[in-house]
Amino acid sequence: MPTQASKTGKILLGISGGIAAYKMPMLVRLLKKAGLEVKVIMTPSARQFVTAETLAVVSENPVITEFFDASGNWNNHVEMGLWADLMLIAPATATTLAKMATGIADNALLTTYFSARCPVMVAPAMDLDMYQHETVHQNIKLLEKHGVVVIPAEDGPLASGLSGQGRMPEPETLFDVIIKQLNPVLPLKGKNVMVTAGPTYENLDPVRFIGNYSSGKMGYAIADSFAKQGANVTLISGPVSIEAPKHVHRISVQSAQQMHDACLIAAKNADIVVMAAAVADYRPEITESQKIKKQDMLTLNLVKNPDILNELGAIKPAGQTLIGFALESQNEMQFASEKLQRKNLDAIVLNSLADEGAGFAHDTNKVTIIYKNGDVNALPLMSKTAVASEIVNEAIRLHFSNTFANS
Ligand code: PMT
Repeated sequence: MPTQASKTGKILLGISGGIAAYKMPMLVRLLKKAGLEVKVIMTPSARQFVTAETLAVVSENPVITEFFDASGNWNNHVEMGLWADLMLIAPATATTLAKMATGIADNALLTTYFSARCPVMVAPAMDLDMYQHETVHQNIKLLEKHGVVVIPAEDGPLASGLSGQGRMPEPETLFDVIIKQLNPVLPLKGKNVMVTAGPTYENLDPVRFIGNYSSGKMGYAIADSFAKQGANVTLISGPVSIEAPKHVHRISVQSAQQMHDACLIAAKNADIVVMAAAVADYRPEITESQKIKKQDMLTLNLVKNPDILNELGAIKPAGQTLIGFALESQNEMQFASEKLQRKNLDAIVLNSLADEGAGFAHDTNKVTIIYKNGDVNALPLMSKTAVASEIVNEAIRLHFSNTFANS
């Protein structure tokens, strides 16, 4: 009976023969984008609605449709059932639901279902009268009794031209349901994380500012990666043109002073803080209320902005893990190590301006993580998403070893 809690992120998708099958490649893409492993099994009739080839490409795994593969080898359904942390059958047709409820194992999807030890979910999809039929209803009830989680069909226009309950939920909804089901085992569930990202703008007058080239990509990728590990993420962001990641609470600020004020509040309750923003060290002493007129020579007086990371290091609560960034153009290791010590950090992520494809605005980054104990982890050039997940994994490791040491 499928009741065991899931452990990691291996998703087995079973597809049966309904029109909603055409939406499944989109769900596979969403799951893959979230870093989950996906394998697909189809009933023979599902192939009339979506191709196994498409699903194999998007899942990056062979798709099982028969008991035997093209070379005559047996597709081991027991192994598949044991491999998965979660099985979702979507769309689940009336026939597949009936066979699941009554123990008929006449295709690879069904034999795998009966072998699965992980939680199983079904998303029934059919025409409205079928969905309301007492037999279908009884089968669904029986499956629920067996521990299967049923994702109810939605209301809306149906392939028959009728309108009513029977539609399979959209891939985004199914994705959210899967993530929720996996969440209980995510390492940062219940943890608060604060991340900063982007530049700050220091106004000179109503139309001009002092800023920098930070796009926010690095910090946003970190916030996204923390959210995918189950954390409650507050992202304090300077002005950027990218959307907030899903399940992240974004606070938009403009100046270093505004970022400072927002950080001091959010960091109080944060278990982990990562400061990836490129904060202006100086601001104009005076912000003119009118546009500055053109003149032969203009002298600007700049005053120092608060060093947010420095302040957070000074008041760091016990058990908090504090990670800074350092953007350096010379003596990189030395300057970054000094910042790590001076600002009371657990680790610092060094970005060198000398590295091609790294730093501001690129989709890639090359960083070196330096730890409080002097250890150094030099990472190769990778996508900012991959760098983010390395930083998040390290943050998790540091946080739990700190927590363990303090307990
Ligand atoms: O946004 P992208 O285009 O993706 O680019 C990413 C990035 C290059 C901005 C990022 O990877 C990065 O290196 N961020 C830190 C940039 C920076 O300001 O470094 P710094 O060495 O000047 O500052 C050291 C640390 O102190 C940083 O964590 C910074 O957030 C923090 N700081 C700096 C000044 C200040 N007044 N307050 C701060 O909190």
